[in-house]
Amino acid sequence: MADMSVDFCGVKFKNPIVVASAEPSNSVLNIKKCIDHGASGVIVKTIGDVPAYQQLTKNSKYAILNEKTRPIKGKVPRNFTFYSRSGYISQHYEEWIPILKETQAYAEKNNAHVIGNVSAGSLDSWASLSRMTEDCGVSMLEINLQHPAPPELADSANGIYIAQDPKVTAEITQRVVEAVNIPVIVKLTPEAMNLTAIAKAAQDAGAAAVTVNSRFKGFATDIETGKPYIGGPAGVGGPWVKPITLRWVHEIYSQLGMPIAGSNGIYDGRDAIEFLMTGARVMQVCSILMLKGIEWLPRMINEVEEFMDSHGYPDIDSLYGISARQSAGSLAELFEAPRLQANIDRDKCVFPKCTCCTRMCFYDVMRPGDGKVDIKAENCIGCELCENTCPMDAISMLPKEQDIVV
Ligand SMILES: Cc1cc2nc3c(=O)[nH]c(=O)nc-3n(C[C@H](O)[C@H](O)[C@H](O)COP(=O)(O)O)c2cc1C
Repeated sequence: MADMSVDFCGVKFKNPIVVASAEPSNSVLNIKKCIDHGASGVIVKTIGDVPAYQQLTKNSKYAILNEKTRPIKGKVPRNFTFYSRSGYISQHYEEWIPILKETQAYAEKNNAHVIGNVSAGSLDSWASLSRMTEDCGVSMLEINLQHPAPPELADSANGIYIAQDPKVTAEITQRVVEAVNIPVIVKLTPEAMNLTAIAKAAQDAGAAAVTVNSRFKGFATDIETGKPYIGGPAGVGGPWVKPITLRWVHEIYSQLGMPIAGSNGIYDGRDAIEFLMTGARVMQVCSILMLKGIEWLPRMINEVEEFMDSHGYPDIDSLYGISARQSAGSLAELFEAPRLQANIDRDKCVFPKCTCCTRMCFYDVMRPGDGKVDIKAENCIGCELCENTCPMDAISMLPKEQDIVV
């Protein structure tokens, strides 16, 4: 059986599946349930001292949207959008001292970790909330930078979102890193222009890892009533966002080599494998647990294990970054790849019943012929769209030099 354990910033996790900071980690009951269902780590919902964000959670709103971005009830489709608005833990942060201690003790007994998550309204309180969390015995600390910067920061444009600005990110990260002795994970927002630059700033300021990343903000309207769903802008996410998240996992892994916690778009164990192969070391899950229940966790963890066993991966390191390392590093590298051109197996082609390739070829290569598709090979740039979409598997790509059989 594959070894599922993983070292993340010097902390050993029994498997790579961690519960993200959100509602499934907002109480003793939920945190213990996540641990009981096999999570190797649980990141508590953000503990903060900004009253508006604490109040926001008392007015949380959640809806599930389908592929038409309309609310749905009942069965959750694979390609859902979780549309929601929520803030920090609404209790006073000191009320979380006994909760962190109790859940940390429970985690220790069950070979799991509780990870803190804080966000603060001033530089001093970034430091004091972080220390408070560390003093409760947690293994690591994640800092949630998705809110406006404290006004006293040097040069910070007041009101700028922290994780959109490398300088502000660095200042807060450094302050937190100086305040605690446990590894600090900086949670990035997908709404920054250049997440790699933000991750680099966090790394230089002493962050042990980054979480890539939290969610986008969106806006969806019920056109029958002309009103926005759930009252106004809200967080959007779901399995469809996975490739966008992985773009940054790949880039940060490749350029900075720092440990990454992957988050945003994970539905099942196979998604977790994809994150691992792209360069994340642990995966954080949230929306899918909110829709399927915490009971979804063991299924995901088993899927990771089964995949590793059936594909002969002995341990997490054997998966880590393998896809990222095979990716072209630059456009120049892509251009150096051998040129290809399309070839068609006329026995398999069912034109004119199927017209996929003739409709989709924008280089005038795939042409309606006499009962079959004809290929004008000299026009072909080898884009592979016809091969990737032909429902009859009638198209293959050959080296450009080779004679094309038509
Ligand atoms: C309802 C909800 C509440 C959330 N609350 C927090 C939070 O308090 N702190 C935080 O850092 N991230 C929060 N997040 C972001 C999640 O931790 C996670 O990064 C994000 O949902 C992407 O993962 P997913 O695709 O598995 O949902 C929240 C997300 C949702 C959907």
